[in-house]
Amino acid sequence: MNVLVIGAGGREHALCWRLSTDSSVDHVYCAPGNPGMRDVCTVVSGVSQDDRQAILEFTDSNSIGLVVVGPEQPLVDGLVDYLISNDVTTFGPNAAAAQLEGSKSFAKEVMTGASVPTAGYAEFTALDPALAHLDQVEYPCVVKADGLAAGKGVTVAEDIATAKAAVKECLADDRFGQAGHKVVIEDFLDGYELSILALVDGTKAVPLAPAQDYKPVFNGQKGPNTGGMGCYSPVPSVSPEMLDDIVATVFEPTLAELKSRGIEFRGVLYAGLMIGSSGHKVLEFNTRFGDPETQVVMPRLQGDLAGILTQCAKGTLDPSLISWSDECCVDVVLASGGYPLSYQTGLPISGLDDVEDGTETLLFHAGTGMTDGVVTTNGGRVLNVCGRAPDFPEARKRAYAAVDRISFEGMHYRTDIASSPAGA
Ligand code: AMP
Ligand code: GLY
Repeated sequence: MNVLVIGAGGREHALCWRLSTDSSVDHVYCAPGNPGMRDVCTVVSGVSQDDRQAILEFTDSNSIGLVVVGPEQPLVDGLVDYLISNDVTTFGPNAAAAQLEGSKSFAKEVMTGASVPTAGYAEFTALDPALAHLDQVEYPCVVKADGLAAGKGVTVAEDIATAKAAVKECLADDRFGQAGHKVVIEDFLDGYELSILALVDGTKAVPLAPAQDYKPVFNGQKGPNTGGMGCYSPVPSVSPEMLDDIVATVFEPTLAELKSRGIEFRGVLYAGLMIGSSGHKVLEFNTRFGDPETQVVMPRLQGDLAGILTQCAKGTLDPSLISWSDECCVDVVLASGGYPLSYQTGLPISGLDDVEDGTETLLFHAGTGMTDGVVTTNGGRVLNVCGRAPDFPEARKRAYAAVDRISFEGMHYRTDIASSPAGA
């Protein structure tokens, strides 16, 4: 089978790498891809993730048996609906199901209807009532733009001034366009964060190995939030019983509530959870693989990924096909100077060839480009360096030893990824 992955980041590089190891897969393509993927797939840089017609034509002319859609925007825009209506087997939710990520207000409505544990909230489209609400709430509180905002739409506000500024950015200043014309104001939840993703075939939800992401840009959970500065898997604090409980109290009721609204979910559903003293609560849903969660989960997956994703797309997932290695994976993200605020691109990256790329260390490109034959920076999160080992200290050592060999101007990264895994 030939597989086409849509997207261009570290998540897609990890998916392409893992698919390329499947015995059922003849060839992997990635559109638009990035230069780092060339060893594991054919990079189709001329086909944009937004050009559904070009994607369909590509699937026809390259005998693609499965399309895997990585990023949220094409999901919300209905790429999966379009490909399925043209008889292309496609992994990912349709546009209606992707609204769980595309609208935080819709996700809250579904969670409330399904009695899924989540933070209390109120939502507003008009500035004055939103500002009046902020006079009543306790601090910290959390202000969220309703729609997709590239990870920048959430403000954890320590005080009323910060909260009011965040609300104004959405409802008065148009910072996020349409995505910010509604805001959700949530109670602050305390605890530690956990990413639980589940493969869903329309009926069943089968959890993937747990992972923990590091959102803030600096060591010790300091600084503004990012798309994720590092990750590890497994998460020792998550017992099989806890995972079963999360499936029963989060995934199953959410899928049932969607079904009662005539929406069937097929693809991967990602629950961002806060684990506090009173148990787990959902912070957000994403309707795609996590980034960088995928980079630490895919190396541990045993079984035929292409076959598993195809079964999901067709509504026939056999959970017994999914199993996990015991190894520990630690992913360190190398970011551009200034990220998550503004940063420069086009800077040459050195040392990539010195990193062993295989069993002990994996290198996944995220925001890279090619300038005059040289690999250069082309995004905020540039590279993922993943260490694999039987235990966390060794996996960390392998990841950071590889990090030490790579450099580009302004490069920064966290040095505390997996330094104390939850429950270890
Ligand atoms: P979201 O995109 O909704 O997951 O929010 C991004 C990040 O903001 C989360 O990963 C948390 O670190 C933080 N966050 C979101 N909602 C809350 C909340 N209710 N309480 C505490 N932190 C939150
Ligand atoms: N790692 C966070 C995300 O994928 O949204």
